Amino acid sequence: MFKNIYNDKKVLITGNTGFKGSWLSLWLHSLGAKVYGLSVNIPTTPSNYETSEIYNFTSQTFIDIVNNTDVLSLIDGIKPDFIFHLAAQPIVQESYADPYNTMNTNIMGTVSVLEALRILNHPCIAVFITSDKCYNNVEWVWGYKETDALGGKDPYSASKGAAELMIKTYSESYFKSEKSNVKVASGRAGNVIGGGDWAAFRIIPDAIRAWYTNKELIIRSPKATRPWQHVLEPLSGYLRLGQLLCENKDLCGESFNFGPKPDTNLSVEQLLIEMAEHWDSFKWRVVDEVINKEAGLLKLNCDKALFYLDWVPNLNANKTIQMVAEWYKHYYNNSDKSMQDFTSEQIREYESFANKNGLAWVK
Ligand SMILES: NC(=O)c1ccc[n+]([C@@H]2O[C@H](COP(=O)([O-])OP(=O)(O)OC[C@H]3O[C@@H](n4cnc5c(N)ncnc54)[C@H](O)[C@@H]3O)[C@@H](O)[C@H]2O)c1
Repeated sequence: MFKNIYNDKKVLITGNTGFKGSWLSLWLHSLGAKVYGLSVNIPTTPSNYETSEIYNFTSQTFIDIVNNTDVLSLIDGIKPDFIFHLAAQPIVQESYADPYNTMNTNIMGTVSVLEALRILNHPCIAVFITSDKCYNNVEWVWGYKETDALGGKDPYSASKGAAELMIKTYSESYFKSEKSNVKVASGRAGNVIGGGDWAAFRIIPDAIRAWYTNKELIIRSPKATRPWQHVLEPLSGYLRLGQLLCENKDLCGESFNFGPKPDTNLSVEQLLIEMAEHWDSFKWRVVDEVINKEAGLLKLNCDKALFYLDWVPNLNANKTIQMVAEWYKHYYNNSDKSMQDFTSEQIREYESFANKNGLAWVK
């Protein structure tokens, strides 16, 4: 996988205790990487970090990404070969409640890592994870391309657009130079679903809580369409991007969309109908109260990832939703198999699908 580029490499994942970071940790561990983690906390209880025992194989540090001195000294101490920067305040609703913390974490946290890379005396490849929400969403029917205008009406989206600008300016000013041994790029993905997410204000965790406690789920925007994708889809894109940044220095400073197959662009209501196929007695009700405006339609154009990275998504909507439902069923049914084994099995299953589909990163 990924031409074995991660085997025996030091890989630092910021935000490793979170939903995506914990899956990425387990995947990199299985690829032979030495995994280092930087997070401020374990953001939820339960969490995939604890449930899948990510701490068992991770050199963990708990610090605030905004604390530039701490971040500098950690990165200088580790001298990582790769960094995947995921640490962020990732919830739109939370960003309305605390815009300052969201901006600080998502923008200045990104600058902390860029600064550490600027003075690092060690070759390093860094993939920065922003979001599809970094685009100025004009609610058109076409997919957004990497050259479309950045924007963001809510504080979270704006913070991700601004993080993109920080990455761009550091690459233009420092990392594109012949003398630099650092290469960076950014990955923009959409709404990620998968086992092990218990964050607030997200449709799958909210649905899980309702299903598990036998309550009715209240939804506010049934027609809102999102590019839902299994968590392993963007992660395969980030890992592929890290691999190709090693091989092609012209990719430094570029950004890439990692979206799902078009059939997973489902509305919230369609997603719930599919989930209900796997969960008996799951009920929901629509209320028309939308407190803060969230964009109605957001699609990504992934031609650039196909062209430069030979990356395409792997799973269709049915398989995506089945994998999500099975993960939570396994967790709540207290099966004998450990969650680390079960999560690893889903990663193996995803790899074997990719193999069958002839995806480039499998080699
Ligand atoms: N989950 C999604 O649907 C989605 C979609 C698009 C982009 N993203 C992006 O992917 C990344 C990971 O998202 P997630 O869903 O795993 O989030 P999460 O909330 O599950 O995890 C967030 C992680 O960031 C860490 N963190 C938060 N503030 C920090 C700080 N000040 N200092 C150090 N660490 C801090 C937390 O400790 C945790 O490890 C984020 O950058 C997010 O914006 C997520």
